[in-house]
Amino acid sequence: MKMDTRVFPDLEALSRGALDELLKTMGDAVKQRGRFTIALAGGRTPAKLYELWARAESEGAHTPWDSVHLFWGDERFVPHDDLLSNYRMAREALIAHVPIPADNVHPMPGPKEFKTPAEAAEAYESDLRKFFGSGAPAFDLQLLGLGVEGHTASLFPGSPALEEKKRWVAAVEAPAKPSERLTLTPVVLNQGRDTFFLVSGGDKKEIIEALRNEPESRLSKYPAGRIKPAGRVMWFLDKAAQG
Ligand code: 6PG
Repeated sequence: MKMDTRVFPDLEALSRGALDELLKTMGDAVKQRGRFTIALAGGRTPAKLYELWARAESEGAHTPWDSVHLFWGDERFVPHDDLLSNYRMAREALIAHVPIPADNVHPMPGPKEFKTPAEAAEAYESDLRKFFGSGAPAFDLQLLGLGVEGHTASLFPGSPALEEKKRWVAAVEAPAKPSERLTLTPVVLNQGRDTFFLVSGGDKKEIIEALRNEPESRLSKYPAGRIKPAGRVMWFLDKAAQG
């Protein structure tokens, strides 16, 4: 498939490049629509971006935090203070260091709020509906990662959530630890205005090559290749992932 890639020497440079684009996207969204909605990702690649965003703020960047709304593309079904929580990662790297209003932070709920992942998924979907209205939301920006087997968000190869046609948020069993997770479905992820895939490390070389070599005309074997919104999709790679 065709990939609009930006290749950087290392994770730090990749994260700076992605942050520059993120800030531009944010500026445009706030100017045009009065707010910036972003779906965050878990993983060690975006963690660096969040740290740099927080650092940029302390060095005088001017994020209009009142107009920024943070959502999550996927989450492990663990308490918010758990080490494995994607929310916790973003809180420690970014949220705790910037003046974003608490009401603008929309984490996926966990087992402290709901007994089962299915109930939590339903509740998050209903929060999204309250915020965005009835049509599937188009995030101004969705950050996505890539797993070595082609997963993105918590959409793993073979997951029934990939075939979802109605629900915005699904509870899934991932072949990874922890296995109980919530994820946005392609119903939402295929609406995004801007999508940044953030991919670093030599272990991603093969999957990047496999995605690149897939024919455009065929439905991708890989979840990441099934995310094809009409908006801009950019791939931020470090040299190691590019191969
Ligand atoms: C998760 C992450 C996951 C991640 C990829 C890439 O909740 O498990 O969202 O999907 O994005 O595994 O992670 P790295 O950036 O650490 O390679």
